[in-house]
Amino acid sequence: MAIIQGWLPPTRAHYELILKLWQFSYPVFGSCGWLFAWKGMGGKLPAPSRFNMPGRVAWLTMEVPGFLTLLYIMRTLPQQHGIHDLPWQNRVLGGLFVIHYAYRAVLFPLLQPSVAPIHVFTWSLAIGFQLFNATCLGSWLAAYGPVTPEAWAAQAPLPQFALGIAVFYVGLAGNFFHDEELREIRRREQRRQERIRKSAGPPPSSSNDTNGTAARKVVEKHYEIPQAGLFRYVLFPHYFCEWIEWTGFLIAAGWSCAPAWAFLVNEISAMLPQAVNGREWYVDKFGEDKVGKKRAVIPWVW
Ligand SMILES: NC(=O)c1ccc[n+]([C@@H]2O[C@H](COP(=O)([O-])OP(=O)(O)OC[C@H]3O[C@@H](n4cnc5c(N)ncnc54)[C@H](OP(=O)(O)O)[C@@H]3O)[C@@H](O)[C@H]2O)c1
Repeated sequence: MAIIQGWLPPTRAHYELILKLWQFSYPVFGSCGWLFAWKGMGGKLPAPSRFNMPGRVAWLTMEVPGFLTLLYIMRTLPQQHGIHDLPWQNRVLGGLFVIHYAYRAVLFPLLQPSVAPIHVFTWSLAIGFQLFNATCLGSWLAAYGPVTPEAWAAQAPLPQFALGIAVFYVGLAGNFFHDEELREIRRREQRRQERIRKSAGPPPSSSNDTNGTAARKVVEKHYEIPQAGLFRYVLFPHYFCEWIEWTGFLIAAGWSCAPAWAFLVNEISAMLPQAVNGREWYVDKFGEDKVGKKRAVIPWVW
């Protein structure tokens, strides 16, 4: 059953229109990051605003619609086109998308020791990103891309498919590893403050902060220059690894997969200005000498 007749799941003509919009509109939005030093997600403590949403709720609600949409389209669209059994490659690629977003949408906000608020404008852009992306990739995987073994042999022969999957997993592992390094900075600080609180004894009776709320706020604002892994060379290796991940997906889907190209280009156009602005933030906070030769996001390049 269609959620919106002709649009969700989309007919081929609507898919092509949505894909065009996705290819041309989001790189423009993303590139606005070069003009305004806004922070797309998380944010180094965005300015207080009544339009800020609690970080964990915002992450979950803006990222979950993506993989649910993709699953819905892959479940409904093939039947509409008389496709009874999708090739295993379509299922594997759909599965990789779900694995990534199960982490990003559900585990990530739960694992973070603290999550900065997110402005409702950023939240809306992120939901738009998810819906466009999942509709285009999902429709391509469900009916409008290769849907027979013969079509796959021409689209991405097995060695290319296998290479793409390997690159995807290297990127996913790297993304998780560097996210984890940032989490560990906050956990370390939390442990340090707990030790100090314990050794200082109970708070004075006049204090209202018996639950350590003030200490948690300090932890939320605690930043260090991370050092592990690729953080030795760049300040946003988690972004770089995410790009490797989706490059792997593109290799596996085949170089002519327009939705996989659009996804990669749109991610880079949104995240590159954030990383470059982010490097400036590190220089302002810690000084040029502490940041040293670390680049923003691509080792030895940018
Ligand atoms: N940003 C995007 O547009 C975007 C798009 C697609 C995917 N992603 C992925 O989503 C994940 C998170 O992205 P993000 O933009 O939120 O990354 P981020 O700005 O680096 O922040 C990630 C988390 O680490 C904390 N953090 C950042 N720098 C820190 C430091 N120097 N010391 C201690 N803690 C620090 C942040 O805390 P605060 O929030 O308190 O600053 C936040 O909780 C990444 O894996 C990225 O690849 C991001």
